[in-house]
Amino acid sequence: MTDFNLFPDRYAEKCRKWDRAKIEEHFGPVKDDFIPMWIADMDFRAPEPLVSRLHQAVENGIFGYTYVYDEFYDAVIRYFERHHHSSPKREWLTLCYGTVSTLHYTVQAFCQKGDYIMLSTPVYDPFERAATAFGAQVVENELVVKDNRYQIDFEKMEEQLKQYRPKLYMLCNPHNPSGRIWSREELVTLISLCQKYGTVVVADEVHSGMILDGVYTSTIETGELLKNVILLSSPNKQYNLGGLKTSYAIIQNEELRKTFRDRLTKNSITSPTVFGILALITCYNEGEEYSRALMGYLGENYRYAREAIENRIPKLSFMEMESSYLLWVNIQNTKLDSDTFTHRLAKETGVLVESGNNFVGNGEGYIRINLGTQFENVKEAFTRIEKFVNGL
Ligand SMILES: Cc1ncc(COP(=O)(O)O)c(C=O)c1O
Repeated sequence: MTDFNLFPDRYAEKCRKWDRAKIEEHFGPVKDDFIPMWIADMDFRAPEPLVSRLHQAVENGIFGYTYVYDEFYDAVIRYFERHHHSSPKREWLTLCYGTVSTLHYTVQAFCQKGDYIMLSTPVYDPFERAATAFGAQVVENELVVKDNRYQIDFEKMEEQLKQYRPKLYMLCNPHNPSGRIWSREELVTLISLCQKYGTVVVADEVHSGMILDGVYTSTIETGELLKNVILLSSPNKQYNLGGLKTSYAIIQNEELRKTFRDRLTKNSITSPTVFGILALITCYNEGEEYSRALMGYLGENYRYAREAIENRIPKLSFMEMESSYLLWVNIQNTKLDSDTFTHRLAKETGVLVESGNNFVGNGEGYIRINLGTQFENVKEAFTRIEKFVNGL
């Protein structure tokens, strides 16, 4: 079994999160003993079945073209049956080259320049870049904080849908940066509203394999409404496979699927990388035990972080981390703005976190802390954060 307390060599493969030059580009000069808790990348060795399957492929020593073979479809279908009580049909699946690049292709497939795309903010910043890189415009539907939890203002959303008639609504489910999972009722309301105004829902579900608390609902479980959804997912967050650039789309609606696939074909996105498809299949088929153990470990990191904040750092508070490993922390009582907080924390303590302003829209007043690292790092980081915040 993987020992999550062991720090793998994060320098050998030139990991961006740990690279000093990349860090200093972003934060300015930092101390030698910096602790990176910014980019959503975890510091754990991958599951052993995956490592040994890729070893086998390397030993075979040949890396020519491959294709999307049956095991890929079977692995994704079985995964959805096990985790999301649904059985996508094989023809609904399309292999893609990572979720972010797929967001870009989706915009290109469904929008004209100047069209609107709606987002509930704050949200993962590549959503906005996918829109603006193409020349589409973003309509921000601001999430509202109620009882320290984000809520969608559906009345406002309907007004905006009516006014802007966005071609797409990009949904982050679970939500990055807050970790919030959306309920079935919320999903049904949201997709129905979008359908009423001719807006297609693009559901990014890449964090869905990492639920810590609560009942997760995938958009695939919304029955008839799935006709209005393009579901994008991958094992990349759950197993930290971002560098393999392999993901998939699930599209039930034939017309949407055709438009989507035409765009991929026009860009020759047709065959997978040898390692990416193997990794997806192996993790989905043989990664359950690893995933359960990992979620237990992350749960302990979260427990430590929440106790540290609640008991020792009264100026900070956080939203419940219902999924994944990204803790959304409210810093408003420190009286520092998010960028200043982040930069001073980096310079004075070496703890590197994301400013709320790195997300689309209204993230000011928050920082995001990545807990996907060894417990010792989390402990040390919170000791330093405590000293920094309490000394302000
Ligand atoms: C919501 C969300 N979507 C997509 C990604 C990245 O997906 P990929 O690496 O497959 O492009 C991330 C990474 O953090 C994410 O948080």
